[in-house]
Amino acid sequence: MRSIIITGGAGFIGSHVVRLFVNKYPDYRIINLDKLTYAGNLANLSDIENRPNYKFVRMDICDFDGVLKLMQTEHVDGIIHLAAESHVDRSIKDPFTFAQTNVMGTLSLLQAAKLYWESLPERYEGKRFYHISTDEVYGALEMTHPEGIPAPFSTKSSAVTHLAYGEKFFTEDLKYQPHSPYSASKAGSDHFVRAFHDTYGLPTIVTNCSNNYGPYQFPEKLIPLFINNIRHRKPLPVYGKGENVRDWLYVEDHARAIDLIFHAGRVAETYNIGGFNEWKNIDIVRVLIKTTDRLLDRREGEDMDLITYVTDRAGHDLRYAIDSRKLQRELGWEPLLQFEEGIEKTVRWYLDNQAWLDNVTSGDYQRYYEQMYSSR
Ligand code: NAD
Ligand code: DAU
Repeated sequence: MRSIIITGGAGFIGSHVVRLFVNKYPDYRIINLDKLTYAGNLANLSDIENRPNYKFVRMDICDFDGVLKLMQTEHVDGIIHLAAESHVDRSIKDPFTFAQTNVMGTLSLLQAAKLYWESLPERYEGKRFYHISTDEVYGALEMTHPEGIPAPFSTKSSAVTHLAYGEKFFTEDLKYQPHSPYSASKAGSDHFVRAFHDTYGLPTIVTNCSNNYGPYQFPEKLIPLFINNIRHRKPLPVYGKGENVRDWLYVEDHARAIDLIFHAGRVAETYNIGGFNEWKNIDIVRVLIKTTDRLLDRREGEDMDLITYVTDRAGHDLRYAIDSRKLQRELGWEPLLQFEEGIEKTVRWYLDNQAWLDNVTSGDYQRYYEQMYSSR
């Protein structure tokens, strides 16, 4: 029996992690701690919400007293921390919220875990504080090969299409060089997590992952936003020239990595998680248009004229590319889903779940949860 708090479980990645743990570990108690900001949506978990090993608690991670009490009453021995403000464009407009949630919220969880676990006879034995971070903390890589070169390493899932746009990759030993308020706030939280290990011996693990895609992603992010816009024949705002490169990973492959690392990762270690799968934004957009058109029985590519080049994102990082061979070597993880298959699955999911998208884009679900919780 384990009792685990998963923070941010009503968000995109968190909902996949909660679902995996609830289904795979019927003997665990899984507590989804989420504030339900605009990005949190309990509809993401409607298939598992009545399971006996699952509990939802609406709480702000910054509520130190609340978190401490929850840990005590639920005898929590593991925390998987995903709650965060996660969208770069929002962080450019409102950096304070990012510092508050991502830095202060993480600190509040760390301090609660420290106080509770230190009060137990066994202290930190069998405990885990697992912090989910991002590759963006490493800054940006150069694009020394704009046309792409065969990638120096690959996996079964990426071997068919894999190109690299430079010789350098993010490795775990790199110095942090965040550029956006979002990545600066994530870097700050990572530093606090490591400081709690080094100072107090808290059993922490940090992972830094590349861009995720798949079902239940909030449609402010590139892939779901563009699928929705293509469906409704709305313009597709490509920042700058669309040349920026991201390394894409199917969200369930990330959730599998989190499961493996939570159980078998070494304390105080950092693991990079990536898709071995670099793409220029504009190439992704073309794949999205072709796939969406085909699945909607339109002429494949007929919506290419929706592409609209707009002013670039301020401080837009040029290239991210993860070297996740440490995780591959130590724990045998690698992505399973081939990218073209993952994109097809993802586009199909958004087209089949238009009600979910409409609900999220109209804000109806926020009003519904506000009412539900204010009447309690
Ligand atoms: P998301 O924005 O979809 O979900 C965030 C969740 O956190 C929401 O459910 C929200 O309600 C909750 N939350 C926000 N503030 C909170 C608070 N103060 N207290 C409690 N809950 C709060 O995010 P995501 O894309 O699923 O990302 C999850 C985590 O993974 C984040 O830490 C992010 O930095 C990291 N990450 C994301 C990606 C990606 O591509 N999406 C890649 C690497 C790392
Ligand atoms: O790398 C991991 C990060 O990936 C996570 O830590 C973040 O939480 C997550 O949001 C994501 O950050 P990005 O900024 O890379 O994702 P986003 O979907 O916002 O943008 C992907 C790329 O597409 C980026 O280069 C900006 C570009 N873009 C994005 C949007 C929303 C556009 O060209 N137009 C758009 O409208």
